[in-house]
Amino acid sequence: VATPAALFGARANSKGTEFGDRRALASLLRARDGAKVSGLTADPASGLDAAAPAEIRSPVDGAVVGHSRFLTAQGATALVERAKAGVRAAEAVPAATRAAQLRRAADLMEERQGTILALLTREGGKTLDDGIAELREAVDFCRFYAAEAERMLIHPVPLPGPTGEENRLVYRSRGVAVCISPWNFPLAIFIGQVAAALAGGNVVIAKPAPQTPLIAKLAVDLLHEAGFARDVLHFAPGGGECGAALTAHPATALVAFTGSTDTAFAINRALAARNAPIAPLIAETGGLNAMIVDATALPEQVADDVVRSAFRSAGQRCSALRLLFVQADVADRMLRMIEGSARELHVGDPAELETDVGPVIDAAQLAMLNAHMTDMKRTQKVRFTGETGPALPEGGHWFAPAIIELDRAEAMTREIFGPVLHVIRWKAGELGKVCDAIEATGFGLTLGVHSRIDETIDFVKERLTVGNVYVNRNMIGAVVGSQPFGGSGLSGTGPKAGGPNYLARFVREQVISTNT
Ligand code: NAD
Ligand code: ALA
Repeated sequence: VATPAALFGARANSKGTEFGDRRALASLLRARDGAKVSGLTADPASGLDAAAPAEIRSPVDGAVVGHSRFLTAQGATALVERAKAGVRAAEAVPAATRAAQLRRAADLMEERQGTILALLTREGGKTLDDGIAELREAVDFCRFYAAEAERMLIHPVPLPGPTGEENRLVYRSRGVAVCISPWNFPLAIFIGQVAAALAGGNVVIAKPAPQTPLIAKLAVDLLHEAGFARDVLHFAPGGGECGAALTAHPATALVAFTGSTDTAFAINRALAARNAPIAPLIAETGGLNAMIVDATALPEQVADDVVRSAFRSAGQRCSALRLLFVQADVADRMLRMIEGSARELHVGDPAELETDVGPVIDAAQLAMLNAHMTDMKRTQKVRFTGETGPALPEGGHWFAPAIIELDRAEAMTREIFGPVLHVIRWKAGELGKVCDAIEATGFGLTLGVHSRIDETIDFVKERLTVGNVYVNRNMIGAVVGSQPFGGSGLSGTGPKAGGPNYLARFVREQVISTNT
């Protein structure tokens, strides 16, 4: 077990720091165990129309963790009106102050790590490993965008001009920024979008997924405590109805969205249908991610990387491996090793140290996965399911990892968001065809390549339009600042989160030319 540096005092990006400080981990677990994570509420500010409190249940055992009042469409519309009034106040806060507030929020997250980790496991169903990594990522996002604000926004950029003319580029806020996030990174993605929007001096409306409003509320409270004013950062708990109303409002000047490709299309349509200035959409969406393994790859490393990439976080990562292309000459041996490794996975209570795979988020996801398995059992070869292993826990939403061999890649046309790996064999000389099949999915998020031939690696990385390529390693867990994350095609618009171009999308450029 390992734990990231961000939790234990390191102030910079925590890339590469291994777990190993058992005392620190033990104190973290004690803090988690002592943290109160029941009876919580996540309500919008008063005066906004909202539904009766909804129960937020843990995916682990169905127990009620808290309640949230979701904004109606009317409440969401009124919230944008309210947010509009804060635009000037938000822009007036100097970039250096905003950066300091983000760093304070990062410090507060580290201080409250026990409560945060408890909520990530209870509300989000995250394993301890995943919860720690998510907390680290959230902390890193705040510090990274603070540094980016200082780099980009404090001083005007001098531009060339003839003698007697001074040209300067300055960045200004866009106005009301709506941030809409998914349930699968309820803290890191939620706070990552919000931190960038706040760093840019915008008034921010932060809408979490309806499955995970409690951890989001905690993050918003903590950002307020760090200094962001209440009329600069607004909380908008709710579902699709709320999100649709926020994006349809003419005063919304920017939407940062992470979630499914279908919802990104819906938001795009809503923005286009407005009689309002054109608002940019940053969309980070789904993937049908592939890994290509050739006959020269190291089998042990492949097995480890495949199992991590496909099953960690119960496969509920946009970056997760879905389609494994294995060269036929080595396929039987590789698959035996992968299945052996998958058999060792412990599916269970995510708060326990030995658990590798926690629950899936809700009944709808579970039903989708079960329907997919029924379909696959009818049409393809199911090689492995955890159903034959130890019994799954009672209550909650449990789905055991599965491996399916497809007769052709085209059998998969959509993202299956869960711990299901699909395998396709390919023959020597068919690498071009493999790339064609991957390209034909239309997605372009992550790609793994396992090979010891440089030409093979160069060929696939140049041929495929994916956002993040991972060579001879696993393909999840992008690190802020080191592996800016995001894709293209059906996987999103860019710019990459945690990269040098992200903050630029949250601000407006103005050039001032002065005759001196
Ligand atoms: P989702 O699209 O169902 O919901 C995402 C958010 O959009 C939620 O807050 C939801 O309430 C809101 N929403 C729903 N309908 C809306 C509408 N019409 N207008 C505005 N907002 C609306 O996605 P999900 O199930 O919460 O998350 C899983 C998906 O997210 C997967 O497809 C996964 O690949 C993707 N994802 C992508 C990334 C990435 O960085 N590319 C990261 C994490 C998750
Ligand atoms: N950024 C997340 C990952 O890389 C989704 O796994």
